[in-house]
Amino acid sequence: MTPLWQAVDLPALPGRSLLWIDDLRHLSPEYLARYFRPQAQGISPRVLARALRGAAPEVAEHVLGHAAPELTTAVREHGAEDVDRAQIRQAQLTVATVYFWEMAYHGRPEVYEQFSARQQPPLAELFPVTGVHDRTVLDVGTGGGRVLAHLDGHAARLYGVDPCRPLLAIAATKVPGAVLHEGGFDRLPLPDCSVDLVVSHGAYQVSEERGGTSGLAEVRRVLRPGGTARIAVANPSTAQHLRSTGVTEIAVRGAIEWTAPPADADPLLHHLLRLAHVHFDEQGRGRTPVWLFEIVRPA
Ligand SMILES: C[S@@+](CC[C@H](N)C(=O)[O-])C[C@H]1O[C@@H](n2cnc3c(N)ncnc32)[C@H](O)[C@@H]1O
Repeated sequence: MTPLWQAVDLPALPGRSLLWIDDLRHLSPEYLARYFRPQAQGISPRVLARALRGAAPEVAEHVLGHAAPELTTAVREHGAEDVDRAQIRQAQLTVATVYFWEMAYHGRPEVYEQFSARQQPPLAELFPVTGVHDRTVLDVGTGGGRVLAHLDGHAARLYGVDPCRPLLAIAATKVPGAVLHEGGFDRLPLPDCSVDLVVSHGAYQVSEERGGTSGLAEVRRVLRPGGTARIAVANPSTAQHLRSTGVTEIAVRGAIEWTAPPADADPLLHHLLRLAHVHFDEQGRGRTPVWLFEIVRPA
């Protein structure tokens, strides 16, 4: 195979060994085709080109072999530019930061499940099972199927959508009766007016690739007239964004309760807990807020 460009060999980066640019290898061809487009997540083709210059050649081939063709073309053009190691490092930091959680979901789903198991959202308050009887429910960004498992046995039909196939495989074991699809807020794989209740926990984000205005439009599209969506977010800036769209906010009394992992747990698990800003007390308990938003499609 002809090399894309002259790769730059960089020494290992101390303290950055948990997930770094080569872990883009875990993103599936489908994920790359769908989400790796020019300027997606604010990343320019030049920055991606610089980041990939210092990646393992097979990782660069994997990304560029499956990304949207217009991104691949632009990245290859930037690949001829002169860059120094500091610029490559900076670009890698940008890309690895933006895709850190995705690399964890896709590459280390078992650690992400351990992270989930440490977290207890107030599901009964966010998504009460009363009222879902005889209803068709869709969980967007279902991950390992935690919310579906909570609603299992109450709703008539359960659908789960997530772009991460390894997490969907975990959801399938927890909720075998649910219909699971690869997909996301940007393009929900369900017909117009087909769902009574859309739920989502911790998945909606501001960017159009992970939610945004088009994601809310997609949620409204799949809702039946009279249907409701309940979107729970755990990030204050995402909550602020949803408020600014005029979506109705519902006060939440509860919070996400956390239990600390053993000290010798996987270092990635400890790191994910730090990224989620979880602080544990002496009893190994933590508490973080969650915000809830509701969309009702008029009957
Ligand atoms: C923090 S996890 C939450 C998972 C699950 N809802 C839970 O509460 O355990 C975020 C989930 O959003 C998914 N996700 C990422 N991009 C998405 C998109 N564009 N649309 C929908 N879900 C997305 C991820 O794959 C991941 O499973």
